[in-house]
Amino acid sequence: MDFLLDMKQKGDFSSQEVREQVDTFMFEVRPDRSDFPTADQLNEMKYLECCIKESQRMYPPVPYIERTIVEPVDIEDGRTIPVGTTVGISIHMVQRDADHFPEPDKFDPDRFIAENCVGRHPFAFCPFSAGPRNCIGQKYAMMEEKTILCHLLRNFTFESVQDEALMQDTMSYMFVLRPTKGVWVKLTPR
Ligand code: HEM
Repeated sequence: MDFLLDMKQKGDFSSQEVREQVDTFMFEVRPDRSDFPTADQLNEMKYLECCIKESQRMYPPVPYIERTIVEPVDIEDGRTIPVGTTVGISIHMVQRDADHFPEPDKFDPDRFIAENCVGRHPFAFCPFSAGPRNCIGQKYAMMEEKTILCHLLRNFTFESVQDEALMQDTMSYMFVLRPTKGVWVKLTPR
Protein backbone atom coordinates (compact mmCIF):
# COMPACT_ATOMS: atom_id res chain seq x y z
CA MET A 1 0.00 0.00 0.00
CA ASP A 2 2.84 2.42 0.84
CA PHE A 3 4.31 1.84 -2.60
CA LEU A 4 0.95 2.33 -4.33
CA LEU A 5 0.22 5.49 -2.36
CA ASP A 6 3.67 6.88 -3.24
CA MET A 7 2.89 6.23 -6.90
CA LYS A 8 -0.42 8.06 -6.48
CA GLN A 9 1.28 11.03 -4.81
CA LYS A 10 3.75 11.25 -7.70
CA GLY A 11 0.79 11.28 -10.10
CA ASP A 12 1.65 7.89 -11.64
CA PHE A 13 -1.57 6.25 -10.38
CA SER A 14 -5.12 7.61 -9.98
CA SER A 15 -7.26 6.58 -6.96
CA GLN A 16 -9.14 4.25 -9.27
CA GLU A 17 -5.90 2.57 -10.36
CA VAL A 18 -4.79 2.10 -6.75
CA ARG A 19 -8.14 0.46 -6.02
CA GLU A 20 -7.79 -1.85 -8.96
CA GLN A 21 -4.31 -2.87 -7.84
CA VAL A 22 -5.59 -3.73 -4.36
CA ASP A 23 -8.46 -5.72 -5.89
CA THR A 24 -5.87 -7.59 -7.91
CA PHE A 25 -3.79 -8.44 -4.85
CA MET A 26 -6.80 -9.69 -3.01
CA PHE A 27 -8.58 -11.74 -5.62
CA GLU A 28 -6.98 -12.09 -9.07
CA VAL A 29 -3.77 -13.64 -7.77
CA ARG A 30 -5.59 -16.21 -5.63
CA PRO A 31 -4.60 -19.77 -6.46
CA ASP A 32 -6.69 -21.14 -9.34
CA ARG A 33 -8.26 -23.84 -7.21
CA SER A 34 -11.88 -24.85 -7.32
CA ASP A 35 -11.94 -25.31 -3.53
CA PHE A 36 -10.84 -21.72 -2.92
CA PRO A 37 -13.92 -19.55 -2.11
CA THR A 38 -14.83 -16.62 -4.36
CA ALA A 39 -15.90 -13.23 -2.97
CA ASP A 40 -19.57 -14.11 -3.67
CA GLN A 41 -19.26 -17.42 -1.86
CA LEU A 42 -17.65 -15.69 1.12
CA ASN A 43 -20.62 -13.29 1.25
CA GLU A 44 -22.98 -16.23 1.40
CA MET A 45 -21.27 -17.75 4.46
CA LYS A 46 -23.69 -16.10 6.87
CA TYR A 47 -23.46 -18.51 9.77
CA LEU A 48 -19.67 -18.65 9.63
CA GLU A 49 -19.81 -14.85 9.91
CA CYS A 50 -22.01 -15.17 13.02
CA CYS A 51 -19.42 -17.54 14.55
CA ILE A 52 -16.55 -15.16 13.75
CA LYS A 53 -18.47 -12.20 15.19
CA GLU A 54 -19.31 -14.12 18.37
CA SER A 55 -15.60 -14.97 18.74
CA GLN A 56 -14.71 -11.31 18.19
CA ARG A 57 -17.31 -10.35 20.77
CA MET A 58 -15.96 -12.67 23.46
CA TYR A 59 -12.30 -12.32 22.53
CA PRO A 60 -11.83 -8.94 20.78
CA PRO A 61 -8.38 -8.97 19.14
CA VAL A 62 -8.03 -5.28 20.13
CA PRO A 63 -9.55 -5.32 23.62
CA TYR A 64 -8.81 -1.73 24.64
CA ILE A 65 -8.53 1.64 22.85
CA GLU A 66 -8.03 5.22 23.98
CA ARG A 67 -9.24 8.59 22.77
CA THR A 68 -8.16 12.11 23.72
CA ILE A 69 -11.09 14.42 24.38
CA VAL A 70 -10.89 17.42 21.99
CA GLU A 71 -14.11 19.16 23.03
CA PRO A 72 -15.97 18.98 26.38
CA VAL A 73 -18.23 15.93 26.59
CA ASP A 74 -21.32 16.03 28.82
CA ILE A 75 -22.08 12.72 30.47
CA GLU A 76 -24.67 11.64 33.05
CA ASP A 77 -25.45 13.67 36.21
CA GLY A 78 -24.31 17.00 34.78
CA ARG A 79 -20.68 15.93 34.76
CA THR A 80 -18.37 16.95 31.93
CA ILE A 81 -15.19 15.27 30.70
CA PRO A 82 -12.74 18.13 30.11
CA VAL A 83 -10.65 18.71 26.99
CA GLY A 84 -7.29 16.92 27.05
CA THR A 85 -8.53 13.93 29.08
CA THR A 86 -7.46 10.52 27.86
CA VAL A 87 -10.46 8.20 27.93
CA GLY A 88 -9.99 4.44 27.98
CA ILE A 89 -12.58 2.26 26.26
CA SER A 90 -12.60 -1.42 27.11
CA ILE A 91 -14.04 -3.09 24.01
CA HIS A 92 -13.83 -6.33 25.98
CA MET A 93 -16.09 -5.06 28.76
CA VAL A 94 -18.50 -3.28 26.40
CA GLN A 95 -19.04 -6.55 24.53
CA ARG A 96 -19.59 -8.58 27.70
CA ASP A 97 -22.35 -6.26 28.93
CA ALA A 98 -25.35 -8.42 29.88
CA ASP A 99 -27.73 -5.55 29.03
CA HIS A 100 -26.82 -5.99 25.37
CA PHE A 101 -25.76 -9.64 25.34
CA PRO A 102 -27.69 -11.78 27.86
CA GLU A 103 -25.49 -14.55 29.35
CA PRO A 104 -22.46 -12.69 27.99
CA ASP A 105 -19.94 -15.46 28.85
CA LYS A 106 -21.81 -17.98 26.71
CA PHE A 107 -20.65 -18.57 23.12
CA ASP A 108 -23.81 -18.17 21.07
CA PRO A 109 -23.37 -17.27 17.37
CA ASP A 110 -27.17 -16.93 16.99
CA ARG A 111 -26.83 -13.50 18.63
CA PHE A 112 -25.59 -12.29 15.23
CA ILE A 113 -28.34 -13.71 13.04
CA ALA A 114 -29.85 -10.60 11.40
CA GLU A 115 -33.22 -10.72 13.21
CA ASN A 116 -31.50 -11.03 16.60
CA CYS A 117 -29.48 -7.84 15.99
CA VAL A 118 -32.60 -5.68 15.53
CA GLY A 119 -32.69 -2.90 18.16
CA ARG A 120 -29.22 -3.61 19.55
CA HIS A 121 -27.19 -0.48 20.29
CA PRO A 122 -24.95 0.20 17.25
CA PHE A 123 -21.82 0.34 19.46
CA ALA A 124 -22.63 -2.69 21.64
CA PHE A 125 -20.47 -4.77 19.29
CA CYS A 126 -17.39 -2.80 18.24
CA PRO A 127 -14.34 -5.08 17.73
CA PHE A 128 -13.13 -2.72 14.99
CA SER A 129 -13.84 0.41 17.07
CA ALA A 130 -16.42 2.91 15.79
CA GLY A 131 -16.63 6.45 14.46
CA PRO A 132 -14.30 8.23 12.05
CA ARG A 133 -11.12 6.38 13.19
CA ASN A 134 -12.50 2.87 13.07
CA CYS A 135 -10.61 0.04 11.42
CA ILE A 136 -10.10 0.51 7.70
CA GLY A 137 -9.29 -3.19 7.35
CA GLN A 138 -12.46 -4.64 8.84
CA LYS A 139 -14.05 -5.93 5.64
CA TYR A 140 -10.75 -7.38 4.51
CA ALA A 141 -10.20 -8.97 7.96
CA MET A 142 -13.61 -10.68 7.80
CA MET A 143 -12.95 -12.04 4.31
CA GLU A 144 -9.52 -13.24 5.36
CA GLU A 145 -10.86 -15.01 8.45
CA LYS A 146 -13.65 -16.64 6.44
CA THR A 147 -11.22 -17.79 3.75
CA ILE A 148 -8.80 -19.35 6.23
CA LEU A 149 -11.53 -20.95 8.36
CA CYS A 150 -13.36 -22.25 5.32
CA HIS A 151 -10.18 -23.89 4.08
CA LEU A 152 -9.40 -25.44 7.48
CA LEU A 153 -12.96 -26.64 8.10
CA ARG A 154 -13.10 -28.32 4.71
CA ASN A 155 -9.95 -30.27 5.43
CA PHE A 156 -10.15 -31.02 9.16
CA THR A 157 -12.63 -31.69 11.91
CA PHE A 158 -11.99 -29.69 15.05
CA GLU A 159 -12.36 -30.76 18.64
CA SER A 160 -11.70 -28.45 21.55
CA VAL A 161 -9.45 -30.03 24.16
CA GLN A 162 -9.47 -26.94 26.38
CA ASP A 163 -11.78 -25.80 29.08
CA GLU A 164 -13.49 -22.45 28.38
CA ALA A 165 -12.69 -21.35 31.97
CA LEU A 166 -8.99 -21.90 31.30
CA MET A 167 -9.22 -19.61 28.23
CA GLN A 168 -10.61 -16.78 30.39
CA ASP A 169 -7.64 -17.07 32.77
CA THR A 170 -4.90 -17.19 30.18
CA MET A 171 -5.51 -14.04 28.15
CA SER A 172 -2.84 -11.38 27.80
CA TYR A 173 -4.08 -7.84 27.08
CA MET A 174 -0.85 -6.28 25.81
CA PHE A 175 -2.25 -4.09 23.00
CA VAL A 176 -3.73 -7.12 21.26
CA LEU A 177 -5.44 -10.03 22.95
CA ARG A 178 -3.30 -13.15 23.05
CA PRO A 179 -3.68 -16.54 24.65
CA THR A 180 -0.65 -16.98 26.95
CA LYS A 181 -0.89 -20.77 26.89
CA GLY A 182 -2.08 -21.30 23.33
CA VAL A 183 -5.46 -22.44 22.06
CA TRP A 184 -5.62 -26.22 22.23
CA VAL A 185 -7.67 -27.97 19.56
CA LYS A 186 -7.45 -31.45 18.09
CA LEU A 187 -7.51 -31.53 14.27
CA THR A 188 -8.39 -34.69 12.40
CA PRO A 189 -8.00 -34.81 8.60
CA ARG A 190 -11.35 -35.29 6.85
C1 HEM B 1 -9.75 -9.07 13.12
C2 HEM B 1 -8.85 -8.20 12.66
C3 HEM B 1 -8.79 -6.74 13.08
C4 HEM B 1 -9.29 -6.12 14.20
C5 HEM B 1 -10.05 -6.73 15.37
C6 HEM B 1 -8.95 -4.71 14.07
C7 HEM B 1 -9.31 -3.74 15.01
C8 HEM B 1 -9.01 -2.40 14.91
C9 HEM B 1 -9.38 -1.39 15.89
C10 HEM B 1 -10.14 -1.64 17.18
C11 HEM B 1 -8.92 -0.20 15.43
C12 HEM B 1 -9.07 1.16 16.13
C13 HEM B 1 -7.85 1.41 16.98
C14 HEM B 1 -8.03 2.65 17.81
O1 HEM B 1 -9.07 3.29 17.75
O2 HEM B 1 -7.11 3.03 18.57
C15 HEM B 1 -8.25 -0.45 14.17
C16 HEM B 1 -7.66 0.53 13.40
C17 HEM B 1 -7.02 0.28 12.21
N1 HEM B 1 -6.95 -0.92 11.54
FE1 HEM B 1 -7.67 -2.69 12.18
N2 HEM B 1 -8.29 -4.50 12.89
C18 HEM B 1 -8.18 -5.71 12.24
C19 HEM B 1 -7.61 -5.94 11.01
C20 HEM B 1 -7.07 -4.98 10.21
C21 HEM B 1 -6.55 -5.20 8.88
C22 HEM B 1 -6.57 -6.55 8.16
C23 HEM B 1 -6.08 -4.01 8.44
C24 HEM B 1 -5.44 -3.64 7.13
C25 HEM B 1 -5.62 -4.31 6.01
C26 HEM B 1 -6.31 -3.02 9.49
C27 HEM B 1 -5.96 -1.69 9.43
C28 HEM B 1 -6.24 -0.74 10.39
C29 HEM B 1 -5.83 0.66 10.30
C30 HEM B 1 -5.00 1.30 9.20
C31 HEM B 1 -6.33 1.31 11.44
C32 HEM B 1 -6.18 2.78 11.83
C33 HEM B 1 -7.33 3.60 11.28
C34 HEM B 1 -7.24 5.05 11.73
O3 HEM B 1 -6.60 5.32 12.74
O4 HEM B 1 -7.83 5.89 11.08
N3 HEM B 1 -6.92 -3.65 10.54
N4 HEM B 1 -8.32 -1.79 13.87
